Amino acid sequence: MTIAFVGCSPVAALANDWGMSASNSKIPPSSVFNPVSTPAHEINTVSLFVIAITAVIFLIVAGLIAYSVIRYRVRAGDDGREPPQVYGSNPIEFAWTTVPVLIVFVLLLITVRSIYTVQAHRRPPDAIGVRVIAHQWWWEFRYPDLGIVTANELHVPLSDPAHPTPTFLELESVDVAHSFWVPRLAGKTDVIPNKLNTMWIDPHVAGTYLGQCAEFCGTEHAMMLLRVTVEPRADFDRWVAGQQRPPARDAAVAHGREIFESTACMNCHTIRGTGANGRFGPDLTHLMTRETLGAGVAMNTRDHLRVWVSDPNVMKPGALMPAMNLDDHDLDDLVAYLATLH
Ligand code: CUA
Repeated sequence: MTIAFVGCSPVAALANDWGMSASNSKIPPSSVFNPVSTPAHEINTVSLFVIAITAVIFLIVAGLIAYSVIRYRVRAGDDGREPPQVYGSNPIEFAWTTVPVLIVFVLLLITVRSIYTVQAHRRPPDAIGVRVIAHQWWWEFRYPDLGIVTANELHVPLSDPAHPTPTFLELESVDVAHSFWVPRLAGKTDVIPNKLNTMWIDPHVAGTYLGQCAEFCGTEHAMMLLRVTVEPRADFDRWVAGQQRPPARDAAVAHGREIFESTACMNCHTIRGTGANGRFGPDLTHLMTRETLGAGVAMNTRDHLRVWVSDPNVMKPGALMPAMNLDDHDLDDLVAYLATLH
């Protein structure tokens, strides 16, 4: 891999994007103009309304300016005197004060109505609840009612508009301010230490939706990505059952497991059924069920996992996980063990 810098952007990222652009190219762009969930629909409606009103204002103002510029341009034979100056006209002053106030009032009403529609939504008793915990620079997702903990890839059930099954998120941060944003599902929600914020989504279309942290939170803010997988209820229930299972125990990778349990790994990570119950890094119990590594910096393949464990800074400069400094043999065994965590 060659490393060169153009301004602040590492060209290395272009030379090797660890399979991410190929994967992301299969996912529709995360445009706010293509909403698939009620809160995002509300925001889209308000945006289109505001754009329509401001476009009309722009056309009127730009049209009048263009007309004046052409109609009153300098011509041969002008006498060079100033045109008549108009001020102190009550009807004109009244018009250009009242009309903008009315326009702003209409925009205010429609915005407040949308905010109310989204925020006043009551949580049905059978809604899925997820605790979102932001870390520098990854997302922890805990499903308290289901006993599941995962990272960076949120799974939620498809919500049929006739029988909605929304997902309610409670968001908090363990370090600095972050912002949770999946443009096609809902607006941004600030994720702040010592403050619990809430939001909800009810995706109507199955698929994978890309999101990202939308508040600058340090070195790897730009690589604090997330994905939301929306799947029909049966598939979601299968995923839940898979996540609830204890991790596989494979005697063939016992040495790798010993390395995991005897090094710093276990201080930061949890693998259920082992002595490792750290909370500083992602829960690895079902690591291999996730598509990506390092909050979306790399596709989760065995080769990438080896690079990551060897030195996360190669993929994600500034990542808080230290290089493990294992010899090649131990690194292979540790990765072999991690690769069994389905
Ligand atoms: Cu977290 Cu930006």
